[in-house]
Amino acid sequence: MISRRRFLGRAGALATALALESSPIPAAIIPAPLALDPTKLAPYVDPLPLPEILRSTGLRALPSDPSVKLPVYRVAMHELQQKIHRDLPPTRLWGFNGASPGPIFETKSGQGILVEWANELPLQHILPVDHNLHGAERSQPEVRCVIHVHGGRTPPQSDGYPEDWVVPGKSLLYHYPNQQEAALLFYHDHTMGINRLNIYAGLQGLFLIRDQTEAALNLPSGPHEIPLLLCDRSLLTDGQLDYPVSPDPKAPWVPEVYGNAILANGKLFPYLDVEPRLYRLRVMNGSNARFLRLSVGNLLPFDLIGSDQGFLAAPATVKRVLLAPAERTDILVDFSAHAGEKLILKSDSFDILQFRVAPAASTPARSTKPTTLRPIARIPESQAVRTRRLTLDEMLSGIQESMGMTLNNTPWHMPITEKPVLNTTEIWEFVNLTEDAHPIHLHLVRFQLLDRRPFDAFTFQDKGELHFYGPPAGPSPDETGWKDTIRCEPGHVTRIIIPFEGFAGRYVWHCHILEHEANDMMRPYHVIA
Ligand code: C2O
Ligand code: CU
Ligand code: CU
Repeated sequence: MISRRRFLGRAGALATALALESSPIPAAIIPAPLALDPTKLAPYVDPLPLPEILRSTGLRALPSDPSVKLPVYRVAMHELQQKIHRDLPPTRLWGFNGASPGPIFETKSGQGILVEWANELPLQHILPVDHNLHGAERSQPEVRCVIHVHGGRTPPQSDGYPEDWVVPGKSLLYHYPNQQEAALLFYHDHTMGINRLNIYAGLQGLFLIRDQTEAALNLPSGPHEIPLLLCDRSLLTDGQLDYPVSPDPKAPWVPEVYGNAILANGKLFPYLDVEPRLYRLRVMNGSNARFLRLSVGNLLPFDLIGSDQGFLAAPATVKRVLLAPAERTDILVDFSAHAGEKLILKSDSFDILQFRVAPAASTPARSTKPTTLRPIARIPESQAVRTRRLTLDEMLSGIQESMGMTLNNTPWHMPITEKPVLNTTEIWEFVNLTEDAHPIHLHLVRFQLLDRRPFDAFTFQDKGELHFYGPPAGPSPDETGWKDTIRCEPGHVTRIIIPFEGFAGRYVWHCHILEHEANDMMRPYHVIA
């Protein structure tokens, strides 16, 4: 009973308590941990952890061409105990090489690497698996993993296809050519039917690609460049993760998970000592479903310099930046006028991290705020050989409860319908018929946002025709560069233009709200050679 309660999270604990009332054991013997109210914890008592930079363990021959030797890294996934806050007991998490989030890859554009992803996880999941979901049937092993580098231009055999998972004791050797521009990518589990649980348990980390353009910009670096993986979680008073479940113990899937604690590099309310100078923050939203809207201090203006797939053309000064799950931002925050102050990084009303600005800088500032970053040619629409209209749909039960969502009304296991040709450009227009915003991500490629336009969903559902309510709106400042994940607002048609470059083969596209992706907002697609 005790382990079952833990597996089912808070709703499970309730169900167990109810079951116990009618059993001969008095319920009071097993005190159920309660939901933790994070605002009761002392803020800013732990320093912000900075994940280690991974080191290669040597050179290894590329399996497909043994004459090529590449740096190899070994990354093992296993269960660990980690302190999320000074005043909480350690939390059971899944991580990489001893930490969650995992260590950071720091790679060079054009320098390929090999990674051995070793599954050393236990045989039982620590979160509630829903066996009704596609790919997570009872006939499947409970613990499985496969890692995908999000934003990577990766050959299909190494992309972490959701069905390419391995069980504990097995590993995968993946090849990342890194033939792409400087950007903050990230790696995470992608296992069919359970990646929302594997990621919530901790299986994600950052992956940097550096290049010459970046080096020439003289941006803040070393201790002045701060990687920040943010994600929301719910915790119990015993420090353990709480992953919500539906009231039906046989079908625990819920349509979205929102935690009430936002972790920065795995800590709740950490602080970071900074100097009164320019800093570069590399931020990624690793939440399952929560959109973050970040601001610093009392709406201190900062400079956006990059997004998912690297630099914008030029910096843009803003006071807030919106990040859907899986989106990244690259920002320059200038603390030089704030010596001695304490500034909070927030997402709307959530406090995340406290910057403690020292009274003086230890060395003179050498980095500068650039005025231009890199040229980004806008792709003309005329370059597209084809436009695909794809709907985002929600299936509701009679009582208006979500039973799942799909892409183009087509579940995962149906034959592949999107088959772009390698080295051609297409426009994909996402017709959002749901009431949610969906961050849609395509593997392999980078793309540009054309526009979003409000339309009448009723006419569309009735007659299949698009009737627009207003003019199209172009990208916001953070969306003017290359993207790999795009926010599709409800009631809007969102259009992106995509050059299919790199490799032919089978990939996936999906919503990056992980609960949506699992049921059933993910589709394979095939790049045809
Ligand atoms: Cu973050 Cu399918 O990826
Ligand atoms: Cu991806
Ligand atoms: Cu979605």
